[in-house]
Amino acid sequence: MNTRVIKIDPLNIDYSLMKRAAEFIKKGGLVAFPTETVYGLGAKGTDEKAVAKIFEAKARPLEDPLIVHIKDKNDLYKIAKDVPRLAEKLIEKFWPGPLTIILKKNKNIPDIVTAGLDTVAVRMPSNPIARVLIELSDVSIPAPSANLFGRPSPTSAEHVLNDLDSRIDMVIDGGICDIGLESTVIEFRGNEAAILRPGGITLERLCEIEKNIIPYDEKNVIKNSPGKYPCHYSPKAKVVIAENNAEQIENVLSLSAFYKKSGYKTGIMCKKEHAGFLKSFDYKELGPSGDFCVCAGRLFSILREFDDEKFDVIIAEGIEEKELGIAIMNRLRKAVGTV
Ligand code: TXA
Ligand code: MG
Repeated sequence: MNTRVIKIDPLNIDYSLMKRAAEFIKKGGLVAFPTETVYGLGAKGTDEKAVAKIFEAKARPLEDPLIVHIKDKNDLYKIAKDVPRLAEKLIEKFWPGPLTIILKKNKNIPDIVTAGLDTVAVRMPSNPIARVLIELSDVSIPAPSANLFGRPSPTSAEHVLNDLDSRIDMVIDGGICDIGLESTVIEFRGNEAAILRPGGITLERLCEIEKNIIPYDEKNVIKNSPGKYPCHYSPKAKVVIAENNAEQIENVLSLSAFYKKSGYKTGIMCKKEHAGFLKSFDYKELGPSGDFCVCAGRLFSILREFDDEKFDVIIAEGIEEKELGIAIMNRLRKAVGTV
């Protein structure tokens, strides 16, 4: 299959080009599109065969349920039911945006979308290209991240093509994703909301609106989210984390020296402040350690760059686990395969 690429400026959307993308969706094809988090791989949500192609193109296990992307709140009630008051409150504040909520599903959602669960994950993206695509396709769009299963999520059209060229019908190139990490996934337990995956909306921001938020806890997630695989977001290179502590730079230097001496092509993903210590090694700067937005935006892209340059080992400097730092460290630990 020949994958077509169209370039769309999110600030000046070309509707006639976007209609072509929507045609692919309507006809049961696969279209990768930018969201504010990462690129998604979309299909027509009511077409079982089209949704099956998503799993095939990504080599994703069928038991890993998808997030359904909608354009407005009315769509929510078409696909979900029994929406709790707490969900309404969080939607009011954070939609459109990187918050995914798990709700009881309505009958009209094909089982393949939800991996047979009686719940459905829903989100309303804020990226204008994603919103126009859903609107012109006239259907809700289930979309996982547009990468091969297990690989780091794509934050540019180029990343998508690296993984899925000739496996999908079209990629809409809308530039680099704003956030660079996936949405926060939450489920409701009585009058509380629990974070199943930390992401674009931080715990701190959720807690400003609502006190009954259960922070992310890996032990709870395995039980409630069947799609959680121990090794995820992984580059081909082995990832080793140098934890964020007082000895961090010494540890980075000795780990790097060890792997280099053992014959591995070794790269370091470092804090900007530490770059000066690493002149005799190959390194890439994640960002200033206090600037979580910059770090989040660069994380997946750096992991992919190291792969493209055929590194065997990546020594990754850990950062403080607060705000977006929680999601960044979650993805890094998944890349290692330790959680
Ligand atoms: O930012 C994002 O969320 C991106 C963009 C494209 O929207 N999408 C994304 O999708 O990251 P994906 O498929 O890579 O991750 C979806 C996560 C999976 O961990 C899956 O297990 C979980 O959401 N999930 C989906 N439906 C669920 C459900 N009914 N119950 C619990 N977890 C669910
Ligand atoms: Mg994914």
